[in-house]
Amino acid sequence: MGSSSSSGLLIVLMILSANAFAPPREIFSHRRRRWGANVRSGTVEGPPIATKPDYSSIHGPLGPLMDSLLMSLFRAKLSERLNNPGNSILIEDSRLAADDFEGIVELTSKMNSRYNNRTEIHEIAREVLVSLFPPFILDRYPSWFARPFPVFSARMCAWATVVGGTWLMGECEVNDVPGMSIDGGRDQGVLVKRCRFLEESQCASICVNSCKIPTQMFFRQNMGLPLTMTPDYTTGECQFSFGKTPTEEEEEEAKSTPCLMRCPSGGSMKRWHHDEGIGDELWLADLATLIAEKGVASRTTCLLMDD
Ligand SMILES: *[C@@H]1O[C@H](CO)[C@@H](O)[C@H](O)[C@H]1NC(C)=O
Repeated sequence: MGSSSSSGLLIVLMILSANAFAPPREIFSHRRRRWGANVRSGTVEGPPIATKPDYSSIHGPLGPLMDSLLMSLFRAKLSERLNNPGNSILIEDSRLAADDFEGIVELTSKMNSRYNNRTEIHEIAREVLVSLFPPFILDRYPSWFARPFPVFSARMCAWATVVGGTWLMGECEVNDVPGMSIDGGRDQGVLVKRCRFLEESQCASICVNSCKIPTQMFFRQNMGLPLTMTPDYTTGECQFSFGKTPTEEEEEEAKSTPCLMRCPSGGSMKRWHHDEGIGDELWLADLATLIAEKGVASRTTCLLMDD
């Protein structure tokens, strides 16, 4: 009995840490319209910076020390994957401290701007999530939990996402999936109030390509559980819906998201990316010049959304 209950506990802990890394955002049908056709080709203001939470003081149920460990682990796995000698593009680790949230933002921003191929970004980010789990969990979760007990699995993942993911997403809570028919979607969702990862990266493309799509892929392919993440760029909210497969329409819509007003690239990252001889210094220091050159009026949809 002792061994089966402790392995059960281990599995739960693993899942929870896994979810921790599942990044942010979504909304559902009732909110989807907010960033519908009328704003699609413009920019979205996003929530006011004046009300930005002090994310460093928001902690998951396991406390600040565990949050810091999870962040350091995530950072280590991310930088390891980005600096893998087999990569077509090498991205070195940030010089920031391992438990500095900005380090993760810096790495994902570089990944998002240096890789032209969105599919590669999705795959790299999914592999980072995979690398956070022991293989024996991923090998068994789909057949032991996700397939035989889909509702239970969805609830467990929702709970684990909150426990293990608060450091990454900021304040969040388990909720009922809006509009879900199975069991009313009770406790199968997570509502992120104002996603930290989105807030700090300020880029809808990073949100969609480095977080939403890879996280959905991870749960689907590696955990055997469908997931739809619905970000709301106006509020910074994100609704996770475990057990729900995103429709093609929703996924298309996610990719045509508008640029965020505070995006540091001002929609100019594409040019930056294609201009040879322009390196990180620009990303770090001279983006303001580019924005001025391009003019605010030319900012339309997020250019990095393109395939
Ligand atoms: C993008 O990457 C994927 C996966 O590595 C590959 O299959 C695909 O051919 C690439 N697309 C382009 C346009 O290079």
